[in-house]
Amino acid sequence: MRPSLHPISADVTTHKPARRLHIQTWGCQMNVYDSARMADALAPLGYTPHPTPEGADLVILNTCHIREKATEKVFAELGRLKRLKDARAKAGERMLIAVAGCVAQAEGAELLRRAPFVDIVLGPQTTHRLPTLVARAEAGERALLDTEFPPEDKFDHLPEEAAPQGFTAFLTVQEGCDRFCSFCVVPYTRGAEFSRPVAAVLAEARRLVAQGAREITLLGQNVNAYHGEAPDGSEWGLARLIRELADRIPGLARLRYTTSHPVDMDEALITAHRDVPILMPFLHLPVQSGSDRVLKAMNRRHTREDYLRLVDRLRAARPDLALSSDFIVGHPGETEEDFAATLDLVQRVGFASAFSFKYSPRPGTPAADRPDQVDEATKERRLAELQALLRDQQARFNASFLGRTIEVLFLEPGRHPGQLVGRSPWLQPVHAQAPATLAGDLRPVTITAIHPNSLAGRLAEPALDAA
Ligand code: SAH
Ligand code: SF4
Ligand code: F3S
Repeated sequence: MRPSLHPISADVTTHKPARRLHIQTWGCQMNVYDSARMADALAPLGYTPHPTPEGADLVILNTCHIREKATEKVFAELGRLKRLKDARAKAGERMLIAVAGCVAQAEGAELLRRAPFVDIVLGPQTTHRLPTLVARAEAGERALLDTEFPPEDKFDHLPEEAAPQGFTAFLTVQEGCDRFCSFCVVPYTRGAEFSRPVAAVLAEARRLVAQGAREITLLGQNVNAYHGEAPDGSEWGLARLIRELADRIPGLARLRYTTSHPVDMDEALITAHRDVPILMPFLHLPVQSGSDRVLKAMNRRHTREDYLRLVDRLRAARPDLALSSDFIVGHPGETEEDFAATLDLVQRVGFASAFSFKYSPRPGTPAADRPDQVDEATKERRLAELQALLRDQQARFNASFLGRTIEVLFLEPGRHPGQLVGRSPWLQPVHAQAPATLAGDLRPVTITAIHPNSLAGRLAEPALDAA
């Protein structure tokens, strides 16, 4: 804020009426990041975060279109908000509703037809225009729509001042996707692939660390396709960016990146896993299917053998690397034999965790139009079988930590008095009795118990187990 000799009068001239902002976020981490940036962008208009839609002056739904269920949830929530908005109107108050994110992008004007009480619809690439749209809606304009893929870069227009994210932070470095997997809406909702310049990423990482972040996760729909412009005009890949962040940002203790495509996992990035100690030994590397036939139909552009070889190379570079993945069962044309190949791949790799989904036809994507859709009951059965196997692998992975001493980044108080919850290098939540002053610190913890979704341990001094 500008210093002033007359703080009170300065306050009067810059004062904006207090308004309450509630943002509800679905979907991937990039939406979480975008929601935080939207809140930052609206702060100068006087909007402060509010925990519920009840009592909020502006509600933003930051939406996900990836599967049918995700989209349905948005319309269910809109029904609830309409009732709230009507009740507020009866009381002589106004509540604005904005729909942002991938459903907004995909549905566009159709969304305003289906839900005419929505004031603003804006796509993921126009979040920087939100303050203008909100100001116009406040002035009484209705049904504002902005779902362009504008030529300007939203990141250049979002404010630098940001509310702190805490000890762990997200940083979007890449957006959009050019891969066009047969089943996926992302290339349509997020648009063409785009990498932020190196200098912008470094500046944001410095700000995040200055605000207390110890761990940063670099985000992108296809993050390992990153190819940002470097200060000398050359182009850097993700590996080079990671090395720069590790070397140039003192105080940054941990780095991660997500989500990666196997085809874009180059030698430089594999080597970075060997050479960069702050790069965490956990990698989300979606494979989707273990069948070559299905991988081809999905337009994934790699075989199961390519994936297995890639995993071997990664583990050779970083022996303690754990993997997670996404799977889709019941892609059109998937046979029992194809599904068995997926189970076999899972057995061979051994995943620390995974997300798995029934194929959900998305309008406008090539797979949705195929005649050989798999019936719902088959999808259900395959999903249950795959999930049982993945759950088992996750349990075994977690159980392998019993008695080991690992480094934990402490984050916040736990449920019990005197307890802190932290995060392991492998993204497991870990709780231990520890003084509150250790929040934000990395400490060795000896694991003493394994719970279904977390590990428990006690502070250890002084040595860590060798990896
Ligand atoms: N950019 C990421 C994934 C984005 S979507 C990547 O390339 O891996 C996250 C996951 O949702 C995908 O990995 C896929 O497993 C799943 N998914 C995407 N479209 C889907 C669909 N139509 N039906 C079911 N699952 C889908
Ligand atoms: Fe979707 Fe495929 Fe792009 Fe991932 S790589 S965002 S699954 S099109
Ligand atoms: Fe969903 Fe859009 Fe992310 S469709 S997964 S919010 S890119």
